[in-house]
Amino acid sequence: MKVSIIGCGTMGCGIAQAISQKGHSVIFLSHSEESIKGGLERLKGNLYRAIEKGKLTQQEKEKILKNIRISWNYNDTKDSDLVIEAVSEDVNLKKQVFSQIDKINKNGILATNTSSIPISEIATATSKPERIIGMHFFNPVPVMKLVELVRGKKTSQQTVEFAKKFVEGLGKTSVEVKDYPGFVSNRILMLFINESINLLKEGVATKEGIDTIAKLGFNHPMGPLELADYIGLDVCLDILNSVFNATKDPKFKPSSLLEAKVKKNELGRKTGKGFYQY
Ligand code: 3HC
Repeated sequence: MKVSIIGCGTMGCGIAQAISQKGHSVIFLSHSEESIKGGLERLKGNLYRAIEKGKLTQQEKEKILKNIRISWNYNDTKDSDLVIEAVSEDVNLKKQVFSQIDKINKNGILATNTSSIPISEIATATSKPERIIGMHFFNPVPVMKLVELVRGKKTSQQTVEFAKKFVEGLGKTSVEVKDYPGFVSNRILMLFINESINLLKEGVATKEGIDTIAKLGFNHPMGPLELADYIGLDVCLDILNSVFNATKDPKFKPSSLLEAKVKKNELGRKTGKGFYQY
């Protein structure tokens, strides 16, 4: 299958890797030559680290890279069976990308990896909302087994069936959910993370204590504060704000400690400091 992936941040790189690893032909795109070349370097870095950790073989690495072609010309998405958008979590940017792709690719399924923006809203930028679907992957994509499939108000059954089959072919499990703010995964996860941050702010336990409770008490692989650093504190704040603004439910009001950290550019692993130092 021919798959185009637009956006070369953490999620775009992970999605491109997971899909090319299964033998699909991937066009990996961004808005400029410089951006996509940087994205390819990031992807290669992930592959080298995975080899070092014994998670990937040299042959697998070669297969992944052989199946990926980079591009900064959206016209190259023309013949793709599936286009997956993974650009920044900005509704206007996503709508702009979808409006462009809708004019170039006439027959493929168009998916967005958004973590909280309504699919039906993104679909308004296109002429065929029935072929738009949310395909929400989880980080690190090559490892995580879930894809949350979000059915917009006008998404067709055919589009849902296509996405389910595709996800299954990646060796992952899909769960179909309705187009509600934060969908299901982030409604649950961000409440958990936000409450953990509030507990830290209130001094109920140390960060290590809170994380140990989740790891040993609930068997989570990472504690909520470690996980927030892993996802990015700016991403967590954006999702909470997006769900809070859409629902007006005070339980989603971001913790003032989270807001303060983002203001100081302490965003987690990517800036070297969040709740922990890296
Ligand atoms: N190809 C490439 N990389 C691979 C790989 C493969 N086939 N297999 C493993 N790796 C990489 C992983 O990406 C990871 O890289 P990193 O260290 O650079 O992050 C590393 O190898 C470690 O992988 P392991 O399989 O050894 O896993 P560990 O036992 O070290 O656990 C973990 C790491 C998988 C991150 C685990 O701690 C975990 O599951 N944590 C929770 C992750 C989670 O909850 N993710 C969801 C976040 S929410 C989200 O994404 C939604 C969004 O909308 C917010």
